[in-house]
Amino acid sequence: MSALEVIGLLFCVYLLWSIVSALFNLLYTCYLGNALGRSIDVKKLGSWAVITGATDGIGRAYAEEFARQGLNVVLISRSLFKLQNVAREIETQFGVKTRVIDVDFTSGREIYDRIGAQLQDLDIGVLVNNVGMSYNYPEFLCYLPDAGAFCTRLMHCNILSVTGMTLLLLPKMAEKRKGLILNVSSASAVLPSPLLSMYSSTKAFVEKFSRDLSLETQHFGVTIQCVLPSFVATNMSKFKSSLTVPSPTQFVRGHMNTLGLEVSSPGYWVHKIQIGFYNMALSFARPIVERIAWYGLFSIRTRAVRRQQRLKMTEVNPDKTGNSANVGVQPIQ
Ligand SMILES: NC(=O)c1ccc[n+]([C@@H]2O[C@H](COP(=O)([O-])OP(=O)(O)OC[C@H]3O[C@@H](n4cnc5c(N)ncnc54)[C@H](OP(=O)(O)O)[C@@H]3O)[C@@H](O)[C@H]2O)c1
Repeated sequence: MSALEVIGLLFCVYLLWSIVSALFNLLYTCYLGNALGRSIDVKKLGSWAVITGATDGIGRAYAEEFARQGLNVVLISRSLFKLQNVAREIETQFGVKTRVIDVDFTSGREIYDRIGAQLQDLDIGVLVNNVGMSYNYPEFLCYLPDAGAFCTRLMHCNILSVTGMTLLLLPKMAEKRKGLILNVSSASAVLPSPLLSMYSSTKAFVEKFSRDLSLETQHFGVTIQCVLPSFVATNMSKFKSSLTVPSPTQFVRGHMNTLGLEVSSPGYWVHKIQIGFYNMALSFARPIVERIAWYGLFSIRTRAVRRQQRLKMTEVNPDKTGNSANVGVQPIQ
């Protein structure tokens, strides 16, 4: 056998091994582990779950899922009206208790004293750090409107909320020697995401923070898991659900199977395949994947900018009825 043939054979073995172990990991984390009773029973952790960004999308789906499993839920978002409606629906549907806290996570440290005061009497087993915000559409960092203030709000909402809520609840969990903290990051944290650099970097913080913190908290019996969704059909993504874009409920149900089985997980099986594929492509042909990501996000930006320009034109020239069109710019993941 020539040296070239040996290298070719080794490469094929490596490729086969990578594919087989990835398939086994997919099967174990999405189905087998849970079926074998290896995932976490959240009811044993405490009687309450706290969810940030809980009135819509992924956060609401987590609140409903934990309520379905019998936990009382604390819902945290900005709008008191929406919070009260969602709380009432959850109480009626699942027969659990709820508590609501209206805060804006784009604010600074001051909100955490108020949140802490409203949580101190509860036996909290689960914290879901879900709240997050993104750009209205992919944009060059240097062209973001009011970039300084926007980036500060983004960091408060996507980073400070995670550390602030964790610092509030982790000490008691460590004392009880049980608890689960789920941090919602994004696939953009680990994939090339030009024109979303601030958003994806805040989500990369969440991923790294979760990984390293989980090494600390394993000594206290507290589980930290980071979830990295690709597109989910919510107000933020503005995508309709499809095979690759699950509804929030599909996404959360899928992710529940992986609880305690992985520190960092795309959560949903299709997203796992997508991210696995991208990671493999990145290790062989990073420049090509980066180029594809660039063109994809740049074309979304171009469409959004055109839509904004049309909106401005319509505002300047309203139609005969005097109404101007109400066209929104499509937000993205
Ligand atoms: N959807 C996706 O495709 C996708 C993909 C990857 C990662 N993610 C991540 O998943 C998480 C949830 O996203 P989503 O798509 O479910 O969002 P969503 O549908 O827009 O829901 C956001 C929730 O957060 C609340 N919220 C928003 N800004 C807030 C603020 N400043 N303070 C307090 N509450 C606030 C909203 O309620 P109020 O408006 O009443 O405050 C709502 O309940 C985010 O961290 C996001 O980055 C989403």
